[in-house]
Amino acid sequence: MFALVAMLLAFGTDALTVEVPTYQHKDPGTGDMLTCTRCPPGTHMLSHCSPTQDTVCTRCPEDHFTQFWNYLPKCLYCSTFCVENQYVHEECSPTNNRVCVCQDGHYWYADFCIKHTECPSGYGVQKNGTVHSDTKCERCPRGTFSAVTSSSAACVKHTNCASKDLVLALKGNGWHDNICSTCENLQSDGGVTILKRILPDFFAHEKIRLYKLKRFVRHDLGQRIKGKRSLTSREQILYYISEWIRDASMDQLNKLPMVLGERNILNTAEKLSKILKELDASNCLMKNTKCNTL
Ligand SMILES: *[C@@H]1O[C@H](CO)[C@@H](O)[C@H](O)[C@H]1NC(C)=O
Repeated sequence: MFALVAMLLAFGTDALTVEVPTYQHKDPGTGDMLTCTRCPPGTHMLSHCSPTQDTVCTRCPEDHFTQFWNYLPKCLYCSTFCVENQYVHEECSPTNNRVCVCQDGHYWYADFCIKHTECPSGYGVQKNGTVHSDTKCERCPRGTFSAVTSSSAACVKHTNCASKDLVLALKGNGWHDNICSTCENLQSDGGVTILKRILPDFFAHEKIRLYKLKRFVRHDLGQRIKGKRSLTSREQILYYISEWIRDASMDQLNKLPMVLGERNILNTAEKLSKILKELDASNCLMKNTKCNTL
């Protein structure tokens, strides 16, 4: 049935302005082939033509339509309903089915509208999503970063600290910018401000097995959480770590690589110890000759 309807609809699409489209119909009385006029869009065929009468057409009832010249016995039901993340672009009318389109920030996939993927930090948008395609993310290439989760932000170049007359306190990576400072600032607080700013995200981006992370937090980051809060999800644990970092002393932070090493979280320990070295203000003079004048 559906194939027939589709076939009938396929005829007469281009004849609209040229001449009234017709179809062949066998007269049941005489057996002669008759050339009948098709019914225009918005109507359907009530009775075939005869030797004495043209085709009789009638308007589509409510919620029904015909889009093309046709000889359908019934109009088609407006069967399209807009679902989640869609809105009505065209209402059902005698000449068209209801047309739904995706809401902003969604793309069409197999009759559904799916939210454009957001690229996580460390990844930038290479191609924005469209109504028909999803976002394309790319790992931020060397020298660029993206600190946000976004479906529109691309990777951006690391700040050039020297061009701002600042020293490069901590080299950028895929998820954070170059961190610029002055030797004065670095020397006055030992880099702790920068360290505290970067560490929560640092932990969030490290791929540490959950059981190791739990052990580290429970046994090394303090007793006061025991039994008070259940640290079951990674988010909860990371949140706890960030709270701990906020209150930690420089001495505690400096010991972190050793503590992590003892918990067999070796990669992270190594990376963190590099960061601590990089932030060490005693390097400052070597990093920037300008500091010699301070
Ligand atoms: C994606 O869209 C945003 C605005 O929504 C625009 O600023 C950005 O340049 C676009 N990105 C690409 C890769 O076209």
